[in-house]
Amino acid sequence: MIGAAFAARAILPNERLFDLTIRDAEMNDAAALAQLMCELGYETSTTEMKQRLESVLSDARCRTFLAEINGQVCGMIGTLTHASHEHNDVSGKIIALVVSKKQRRSGIGRALIAAAEKDFANRGVTRLSLTTRFSREEAHQFYESLGYTRTGIRFAKTLR
Ligand SMILES: CC(C)(COP(=O)(O)OP(=O)(O)OC[C@H]1O[C@@H](n2cnc3c(N)ncnc32)[C@H](O)[C@@H]1OP(=O)(O)O)[C@@H](O)C(=O)NCCC(=O)NCCS
Repeated sequence: MIGAAFAARAILPNERLFDLTIRDAEMNDAAALAQLMCELGYETSTTEMKQRLESVLSDARCRTFLAEINGQVCGMIGTLTHASHEHNDVSGKIIALVVSKKQRRSGIGRALIAAAEKDFANRGVTRLSLTTRFSREEAHQFYESLGYTRTGIRFAKTLR
């Protein structure tokens, strides 16, 4: 958990510097998070997001950090630490990451990743991974610019 919110700087497309706050998400953020999930391509409602947050916020393995400018939520990152059969220590996963369309390419995604990595490091997690769709080419460039490398392919299946 971040505990106290931490500040970063972002340069919005009009090239003005804005103060960016990264903080832990709360139940009251359900509407903003629902909106961000829709932007990520997962249509949902505030009611559904409240239910998800009840699980996520009470799960000690999960973290949800929000980016805010002038009190307005403009991005989120969700993470998970998990035990595995392959390693003795816990691993970290970035589960969800999205920045509001209007505010992309201003350093907000970078600040969210930095907050998540700091939190992982505080918990002794050194091995991070994430999955992303082939179609998210801009996200691929984003992750590569931050030192993430392509190491595999994701397979998915829906059980009936
Ligand atoms: C991917 C995403 C989170 C990046 O957030 P962002 O705030 O726009 O990214 P940043 O401004 O912090 O970018 C940091 C660096 O990543 C790289 N980058 C970011 N977006 C890029 C793009 N569209 N094309 C190429 N490089 C890009 C650049 O090197 C950038 O640094 P620079 O602006 O100084 O050149 C955002 O584009 C987004 O929400 N996309 C839609 C949802 C999504 O794909 N999420 C990931 C799911 S796995």
